[in-house]
Amino acid sequence: KFSEECSYTGITLTRYMIEFARANPELAELESILASIQTACKTISTLVRRSSMTGLVGLQGGGGSVNVQGEEQKKLDVITNDVLKNALKFSGKMATLASEEEDAPVALDEDDNYDAYRPKDIVIEEGNKYIAVFDPLDGSSNVDAGIPTGTIFGIFDEGDQTCVVDEGLPLTAAEQECLASTLRPGNALIASGYCLYSSATHFVFTLGAGVQGFTLDESNGEFVLTHPDIMLPPRGKIYSLNEGNRWAWDNALRDYVTAIQKGEGESGVAYTSRYIGSMVGDVHRTLLYGGIFAYAGDKKNVNGKLRLLYEAAPMSFLVEQAGGKAVTGLHRIMDIVPSGVHQRVPVIMGSPDDVAECQKYYTAES
Ligand code: AHG
Ligand code: MN
Ligand code: MN
Ligand code: MN
Repeated sequence: KFSEECSYTGITLTRYMIEFARANPELAELESILASIQTACKTISTLVRRSSMTGLVGLQGGGGSVNVQGEEQKKLDVITNDVLKNALKFSGKMATLASEEEDAPVALDEDDNYDAYRPKDIVIEEGNKYIAVFDPLDGSSNVDAGIPTGTIFGIFDEGDQTCVVDEGLPLTAAEQECLASTLRPGNALIASGYCLYSSATHFVFTLGAGVQGFTLDESNGEFVLTHPDIMLPPRGKIYSLNEGNRWAWDNALRDYVTAIQKGEGESGVAYTSRYIGSMVGDVHRTLLYGGIFAYAGDKKNVNGKLRLLYEAAPMSFLVEQAGGKAVTGLHRIMDIVPSGVHQRVPVIMGSPDDVAECQKYYTAES
């Protein structure tokens, strides 16, 4: 649910974060972190919207640039990754960054964090150090066709530990160990959210006390609160997954989807299918309209396709904060401790009653 009358609250993201920091002094540093992410989202929104005119289309280096996932990188995958890394560095609060487009986590040491143009006489106070995980351009295979894409981010509080690595040298075992220890389960997230580059540019996030949705007012460049306190409907009528994988599905998913397609599920209503192949777009629609989004494990990919650290966990935090559920089939995604930066995990998330109904098929099969 979101309050219809608040179509234009006039509350900007900047003002919202100032008030949040005042009310939550222990999380005040999130204000500058969210400020840097919102700046990055505005920049990426412009890059994506103008890409057909600026030539930022097609594959990085004309092809052959493959990321650690084995995916051919788009030019926009690479440039959006740089935009987000720089924005987060200049927040001055980051210790480590992990990205879909970086092989290993990137450790930021002191001078990495500060803008070279900062007046030199300002004393740099020791602040809390945070870890950011992000997917700079989600759904990038769609971007050259004008289909919605997004950015997904999550923030962990690293506490007192900082990894210092020698730039440009192969990581030592100790450095790998240190960086690997920055990989936390979704339960440890203190903030997560996404930007959606679609018919409008949306910024939707949680700081652990509900989900707030903002829309970019292009007339003044401000994100304005348009969807306060988003809550998922308990049940929807839309299922969202790639039917192309049907013949590799586990029996549990096959039987669940067949039931809701035939109107033989708990609601007795035949569900309709909506799937755009961009997780941010599919999850945003699910948050607002209800229903279920899934990229489950199957016989071809037992862990599905979506990455735990910077896609599944941040989105699960958001969905749970909006009253929804997010599971692998049998297990809650937020409980899973990553064993690697790019580890994949099966994802079933959305309205609580829909996810609970789907889970019954997995429990029955286990
Ligand atoms: P990314 O573009 O960041 O690599 O993520 C793409 C993901 C996700 O956005 C989407 O839900 C899924 O890939 C679609 O996969 P299929 O094309 O296999 O359905
Ligand atoms: Mn990708
Ligand atoms: Mn993605
Ligand atoms: Mn991506």
